[in-house]
Amino acid sequence: MTEPLFGVDYYPEHWNAKRWPVDAKLMQQAGMNTVRLAEFAWSRMEPKEGYFDFAWLDEAIEILMAYGIRVVLGTPTAAPPAWLISAHPEILPVNEDGQRAGFGMRRHYCPTQPAFWSATQHIVEVMATHYHEHPAVFAWQVDNELGNIANGIRCHCSSCRAAFQQWLQQRHESLERLNSAWGTVFWSQEYTAWEQIPVPVRNVRSGSPGSAHNPALYLDFARFTSDTWVRYQQLQVRILRDLCPHHLITHNLMGLFPYVDYVALAQDLDVVSWDNYPRLPTPWSPFNGGWNASHIAMAHDLMRSLKGRTFWVMEQQAGPSGWGRLSPTPLPGEIRLWTLQSIAHGAEAIVYFRWRTCRVGTEQYWHGVLPHDGTPGRRYQEVLQVGGELRRLDELVSATLPAEVAILRSYDVLWAFEAQPTAEALSYDDQIGRYYRALWRRNVAVDLVTEDRPWEPYRVLIAPCLFVLRDNIPARLHAWVEAGGMLVLTFRSGVKDEHNNVVDLPLPGELCELAGVRVVDYTALLPAGSGEPFGGPKSLELIIDGTSHPVSTDMWMDELEVNGAQVIGRYRGGVFDGSPAVTMRRIGAGKVIYVGASLDDAGQDLLMGMVLAGAGIAEVSSPDNVEIVRRVHKGIDYWFILNHGMAPQEILLPAGGVELLTGRTISGKVVVNGLDALVIRSQPEQR
Ligand code: GAL
Repeated sequence: MTEPLFGVDYYPEHWNAKRWPVDAKLMQQAGMNTVRLAEFAWSRMEPKEGYFDFAWLDEAIEILMAYGIRVVLGTPTAAPPAWLISAHPEILPVNEDGQRAGFGMRRHYCPTQPAFWSATQHIVEVMATHYHEHPAVFAWQVDNELGNIANGIRCHCSSCRAAFQQWLQQRHESLERLNSAWGTVFWSQEYTAWEQIPVPVRNVRSGSPGSAHNPALYLDFARFTSDTWVRYQQLQVRILRDLCPHHLITHNLMGLFPYVDYVALAQDLDVVSWDNYPRLPTPWSPFNGGWNASHIAMAHDLMRSLKGRTFWVMEQQAGPSGWGRLSPTPLPGEIRLWTLQSIAHGAEAIVYFRWRTCRVGTEQYWHGVLPHDGTPGRRYQEVLQVGGELRRLDELVSATLPAEVAILRSYDVLWAFEAQPTAEALSYDDQIGRYYRALWRRNVAVDLVTEDRPWEPYRVLIAPCLFVLRDNIPARLHAWVEAGGMLVLTFRSGVKDEHNNVVDLPLPGELCELAGVRVVDYTALLPAGSGEPFGGPKSLELIIDGTSHPVSTDMWMDELEVNGAQVIGRYRGGVFDGSPAVTMRRIGAGKVIYVGASLDDAGQDLLMGMVLAGAGIAEVSSPDNVEIVRRVHKGIDYWFILNHGMAPQEILLPAGGVELLTGRTISGKVVVNGLDALVIRSQPEQR
């Protein structure tokens, strides 16, 4: 790839064909070279079963091609048409309340239904055959945002139930083993035939969906449903690879979306794409008060880490967004800043959602680059400016982002906490986000890994709430620490075995020896304002380099007994007054820090400062809300300086060099305006 892909999600089927050349020309003027097309256009491409019409799409692509724009084609399976649903209503998914969806949304299909597999196979084969040699088409997006269903989180239909039972047979081999692994003796749930095993429809009136089910069943069901999406994607990938061997294949993921193992999903793709809406708290967002710049950075880093390479942003927010209610509009400069942040974190494609704001349908208020009336305005001008600037960044498109710190984010842990959140306000991603944010504030590059990605090459591994332990993780961690790794473990670690049963060991279970601590008691803290004795926050002191710092914990407290670890934090007051709360143990050439409390920002910050200093990892200082990211290519450093705040900030540059957006040579202290950014190319001799 030599130039960044730059473009929009375009829906020619929403507009009169007379408008298409006007759109294509405006896109070209804005420097665009890419559109994504057709990912919801099934009813236009196959208006009746077996009757296909690509004439309109061919014409639209011809026009775009004439303006130098190439195409990512979406397979349209996220929007099964009415004729298909009326012939096969069983395709409609069944949610956690046992209710079948009705027609009228999108993502209204179950990924295991045989009738949907056949219909998918047919449309994807015909479409791929039609476009396999088209000169404008260079890539495919499979479906759209796999993983959720129209009316809920997971499908619970009879086809899924049968497939789940089969999946369990393969995994557990015998009912005896399943009964023992799941502990079905509890409440007389022992199964004597595979067909008796249920799917976890909601069986209590309130609480999280799986809270009353056997947690072992719930975790296996979450793993199974994640697999169903991976397999459904494979069905399409196989067809596309076969018929279009020269095209790239991608899928648009959703950042921190928790219900599909994205490492597994990404394996079958050439490149990961994702949909980035910085102004929009997603339903699964763990962050109260919506997203901020560090959360977006974290989602980018997660997406990059899935395949350990650059990625695409397939939908980049380009206007105020929402279905029924609108998010505030991006401030002048914000679309540009979000775009540069995406590139800083490794995006080699920026595709804005969407070109023109639609006048019809559910997304009438999901604003695109152009307003409803199609007249270019402020947002178009900003995108046009970005288009010009991106051409100056060609040379760094495939640059790497070397990280020495990794955070472990496990899908098993996400799902186990989904079944039993453990403490009122505790969220796994929020805990991860706190560590990430402390590192982000120090401008330290971070990768996010799972158990299945190699984490041994990193110098620091932070594994917040490593609740479920599987495979040989404790032994791997031990060997890695001995060889010099710096490991951070926290409360709620080593609690569960791979089946989501509590271990028969003191906590942190199999990590006790490694951490050099034993949890003798623990308590969840109630939300602030709940009153004494258990309303958070509670005080503790961190002792770093002989200095005591008062910090607090808001959700959890472990009371610790140390066995070989040094105490670096103690509770002050409250039910565990005086008990160790944070410890450090040396093992071989490495160290293990155990954090028994959910620390506030100040605590996280102090701790990360200590960890980075201990591991000899350099930080880059910047004012609040100014992000600095380094990318490296052919021995050259590229520094992105991103001011997410509204006010100008004086910044001491980490290195001098040529500022690529303006062509100026700069060094030392500079002022970066609010919502503005710099990109500095720094040759080795300028450092
Ligand atoms: C994305 C989706 C797009 C569009 C957008 C606004 O999640 O992929 O198709 O719907 O949200 O809702």
